[in-house]
Amino acid sequence: MYTSKIVGHSSYLPENILTNDDFSKFLDTSDEWIYSRTGIKQRHVSKVNTSVLCTNAANILLEKFNIDPLILDAIIVATSTPDYTIPSVSALVQGNIKASNAMAIDINSACSGFVFALSTADKYIKCGNYKNILVIGGEVTSKQLDYTDRTTSVLFGDGAGAILLQRTDDNTGIISEKLETHGDKHDFIVSGFTGVNNTLNKEDGYPYLSMKGRDVFNFVTRVVMKNIISTLENVNLTIDDIDFVVPHQANIRIIEVLARKLKCDPSKVFTNIDKVANTSAGSLPIILDEMFNNDSLTLGSKQNILLTAFGGGMSCGSLVITL
Ligand code: COA
Repeated sequence: MYTSKIVGHSSYLPENILTNDDFSKFLDTSDEWIYSRTGIKQRHVSKVNTSVLCTNAANILLEKFNIDPLILDAIIVATSTPDYTIPSVSALVQGNIKASNAMAIDINSACSGFVFALSTADKYIKCGNYKNILVIGGEVTSKQLDYTDRTTSVLFGDGAGAILLQRTDDNTGIISEKLETHGDKHDFIVSGFTGVNNTLNKEDGYPYLSMKGRDVFNFVTRVVMKNIISTLENVNLTIDDIDFVVPHQANIRIIEVLARKLKCDPSKVFTNIDKVANTSAGSLPIILDEMFNNDSLTLGSKQNILLTAFGGGMSCGSLVITL
């Protein structure tokens, strides 16, 4: 039976940075409020659209790992902020990087998107017809933010990251997973409303991102905790068998609560939210790239990592991956 192994990684962050102090110049907020409640100090903000960030991340990976784009069989992009409804971001990336043998699809599972996309890529590989799949998570959430709303606009940043998954038979890759959707709570995070607009009806609605922050916080600490435990128990592992927990970077207080409830050594939980804020589907590939680059993680090392993410839908998912 085939499994899928991580053989490449990259990330791309736009050069422009908005600090908390920058926000306090046009909103009734402060660095003290934002940092103490979220752990965020700054976020990158993009002048260009999602497909450009994803293409940049893809090109960095291809160059760094000396990959010919023609060996790619598929490109899966996790995003909830596509340039267009049609074409998909993945189709744009496929054209930009000249990966003409790759089929391309987008996955929208909000901030959980990268976990859902990695799981999907893993299943394509396990079916036997796909060998090399580029999985990208990228967002320009800034274009969906209402910059007069201090409760949401300070939380998000833009960026993209990529992972190359390759078919192998050495029992590495995703060894356990649990993905969940809680559609009854879909109103906790809402963004990008496009109403009916035709000869029969015209719907008005708020097009920007809105969030019930407290409800999201409670959802995450309750549902995600159970999701993580179940993912570990599926393969008879405990948190002590995990070398690094890599959580979606949404809020440092959520990460601390999860680590405490898991009784996880804090040194096993890496965070970069202070620098990048919540980059939604970009969050996990961006932080994974940083962890590979600072030698916390090593390709082929057989380290066990637990990826966990949550977001709009509401959705959540965890993966245990052996590198
Ligand atoms: N600056 C200053 N004050 C702010 C503020 C800001 N940026 N944002 C909100 N406030 C104010 C609110 O207006 C409110 O004021 P009021 O009491 O006068 O009405 C007060 O702070 C408390 O608001 P509340 O929303 O209850 O704060 P909180 O302690 O729950 O913290 C979050 C807000 C968003 C940081 C917190 O709920 C959270 O982290 N939720 C999870 C969000 C998340 O992770 N989303 C992404 C999921 S992928």
